[in-house]
Amino acid sequence: MEAVYRNFKIIVVEDSEKMGVLAAGQFAKQIASKPSSVIGLATGSTPLSTYKNLIALCGRGEIDFKSVTSFNLDEYYPIKKSNTQSYDYFMRDNLFNYINIAPENIFIPDGEADDAERACWDYEVLIKNAGGIDLQLLGLGNNGHIGFNEPCDAFPKATHCVTLDESTIEANARFFDSAADVPRQALSMGIGTIMDAKHILLLISGAAKADIARKVLFGDITPKVPGSVLQLHRSVTVILDEGAAEQAMSYL
Ligand code: F6R
Repeated sequence: MEAVYRNFKIIVVEDSEKMGVLAAGQFAKQIASKPSSVIGLATGSTPLSTYKNLIALCGRGEIDFKSVTSFNLDEYYPIKKSNTQSYDYFMRDNLFNYINIAPENIFIPDGEADDAERACWDYEVLIKNAGGIDLQLLGLGNNGHIGFNEPCDAFPKATHCVTLDESTIEANARFFDSAADVPRQALSMGIGTIMDAKHILLLISGAAKADIARKVLFGDITPKVPGSVLQLHRSVTVILDEGAAEQAMSYL
């Protein structure tokens, strides 16, 4: 089903497979209309089906990444690119190695930088110089985070170094040997960076996120629920699977 609620175009699909098909289709449309699109990408479980579909579309020649530039939302800090848990590694392993994007057009915050603050500033400049992000893909954390903008007292504006929430460390421990191995910090686009994107595509998957999905889409706009700021963005498409949409349905 599809509904418009204030600034949100909300689409509810059966499962994460269908979500991936639809989300990849949005990227195909964006890149067809502007071959030199600047896209923003995310890591985690949610976008995996999107990336699978993008690889398939690219393989069939139905999407061409040749002139596309990509910026990832975030990266652990500090972390080596060669670490299999780095987001750099994740993106190569799940997308970049299988599509025709030019390596020099791929940008991910530098988890190896000596000076984190400088790396964050440089990242902002790179995004601005690329003309800003046309289409930004977002997942949603269990605590409402987007990128690694954790619940806090004020929305962080620009790319910054963040101390991860205990709940985020626990949620992401599934990818590491133990929670103790999860880096305690990350470099993340700020809320301002994300809000500057021309279009946003928010994917929310699984019944465990039904409550936070409702808060983000229909609750108070507060930095305690960082994703709620998207209620102030001009152009947001939200795709939820049936599990994640459970509590949102009564608003639609
Ligand atoms: C990842 C990111 C995070 C994830 C969020 C959901 O680059 O920025 O905000 O989107 O933690 O993660 P999953 O999809 O694993 O539930």
